[in-house]
Amino acid sequence: MEASRIALPIGTALDRFIKNNQDQFQYANGELSQLLRDIALASKVVNREVNKAGLIDIMGPMGSQNTGGEQQQKLDVLANIRFTRALTKGGEACALISEETESFVDLNNEGRYMIAIDPLDGSSNIDVNVSIGTIFSIYRRKSPVGQPIQENDILQTGDEQVAAGYILYGSSTMLVYTTGHGVNGFTYESTLGEYVLSHPDMNIPEDGKIYSINEGLSNSFSQPVKSYVQYCKDNNYTARYIGSLVADFHRNLLKGGIYIYPATAKDKNGKLRLMYECNALAFLAEQAGGQATNGKSRILKIKPKDLHERTPFYVGSKKMVEKAASFI
Ligand code: AHG
Ligand code: MN
Ligand code: MN
Repeated sequence: MEASRIALPIGTALDRFIKNNQDQFQYANGELSQLLRDIALASKVVNREVNKAGLIDIMGPMGSQNTGGEQQQKLDVLANIRFTRALTKGGEACALISEETESFVDLNNEGRYMIAIDPLDGSSNIDVNVSIGTIFSIYRRKSPVGQPIQENDILQTGDEQVAAGYILYGSSTMLVYTTGHGVNGFTYESTLGEYVLSHPDMNIPEDGKIYSINEGLSNSFSQPVKSYVQYCKDNNYTARYIGSLVADFHRNLLKGGIYIYPATAKDKNGKLRLMYECNALAFLAEQAGGQATNGKSRILKIKPKDLHERTPFYVGSKKMVEKAASFI
């Protein structure tokens, strides 16, 4: 954060924090702040559903598939509805893209922001009481208001994000976000119903000893990825893999580490989606002093051709990502 700004103390409520930092944003007129509040509010509703998951009938598959051909879980669909509703009502968002929706949604309003969202990340962990998350990216609309949404409003590069973040539904619920002025983390205080600042100005350790990759797929990794994983073992690194990207990223952000979802023989571009998974985490990683690459270029520089495009993903501590990239 800028030196001239008075740092708000731990325990500051999210609303106050957003208000205090609003003028950092070049278009500051309160719309972005309102969007962040809307996302925070929807996440409280989803958090309530997540915590009830074992008690009411919201666990398990829907019996339908999403655009990626993956089984939709009931909570995927429910979270998508909650976030879509919250973002639609306010009028600040003009268009949405979501993992759960095939094409973009034009909200036909005067909103100035496009939102990309993975409403529920880590679906395979819902039924087993393991951490899951939500990932979001916020972009400025490019076309003039009053016209239909254009392709260039949707297919923006990660560098054009004006804000991004995630919510982690873990042993506590956290909201971590950036508007391009550092990264701040807020913990949900359920008795108050408020997110409060718990992790101001987060920085990822420059180097680390944790590597996170699904090694069950190692037979289909390329030789350079196999060699890097062997390098991790030879250097006594520790393997940690939850299988929820948000949770794996968050741990590595705090402790130092690298998360990798590489290209595999089956998925030539890896599994993770550029626009609503990788870009937000790449923005956060860079803002916290880390790095994110597809092995060849910065994630934030990739120009998407499709809103559900996938990319290999290497993200985390600067030195670890540089080392991994040197193998690729
Ligand atoms: P989603 O639940 O939104 O489809 O995302 C699942 C992703 C990500 O959260 C996780 O890191 C990765 O899938 C795990 O994939 P594998 O099971 O192939 O390791
Ligand atoms: Mn996901
Ligand atoms: Mn998802």
